[in-house]
Amino acid sequence: MSADDEKRLAAEAAAELVESGMTVGLGTGSTVAHLLPALARRGLTDLRCVATSPATAEQARGLGIPVEDFDSLDRLDIAIDGTDEVIPEGWLIKGGGGAHLREKIVAAAADRFVVIADSSKPVEKFTWPVPLELFAFGLASTLARLGPDVSLRPGTPPSPDGGLIADYRGPGLDDPATLAARLEADAGVAAQGLFPPALVSDIFIARGTDVERTTIG
Ligand code: 5RP
Repeated sequence: MSADDEKRLAAEAAAELVESGMTVGLGTGSTVAHLLPALARRGLTDLRCVATSPATAEQARGLGIPVEDFDSLDRLDIAIDGTDEVIPEGWLIKGGGGAHLREKIVAAAADRFVVIADSSKPVEKFTWPVPLELFAFGLASTLARLGPDVSLRPGTPPSPDGGLIADYRGPGLDDPATLAARLEADAGVAAQGLFPPALVSDIFIARGTDVERTTIG
């Protein structure tokens, strides 16, 4: 079974959690690209959805899933999103698609944040760089403060919120809480891609034809 098939199976399992009338946060990426048709096939009514990227909004609307701006809903029943890596403690690295600022806001607003992934995503220790979104204002000074461990992601356009996508490649991944706090403490960092276990409700990981479901909190 390919990674893409596993992404589809995890996404289809998570789509079953959504019920008519729910407010739903839609993540970003190739795993979420399988969630949207699975959700559309369910034929649910009265959904109110917000999207974490223009790409997701466009795909969802094309499938007949209503998407609205995230400015009047004050909470979401559920959000479903992919991840770049997940460690046994439940920490995630997200932002491979540069959407982690909106993804974190949507996850934080959701009563239940469900992570969907293929079997390549669970790792014992993080190996990915930590994605950052940096404010455009004062960018050169932010980069100077953050130092040589942070570089702008080449060829990546600004986010829909005007921030610049960068990556942190430095020490500290063995202590995500401390690293997250350090990165967030810089005034020029709009968002960093470490998501704590406290944000995560469930993780659906497809391994072959099975979908493992782990409840975090
Ligand atoms: C985008 C993300 C994605 O969820 C993450 O990159 C995983 O992507 P994919 O589902 O394509 O493997 O955080 O910012």
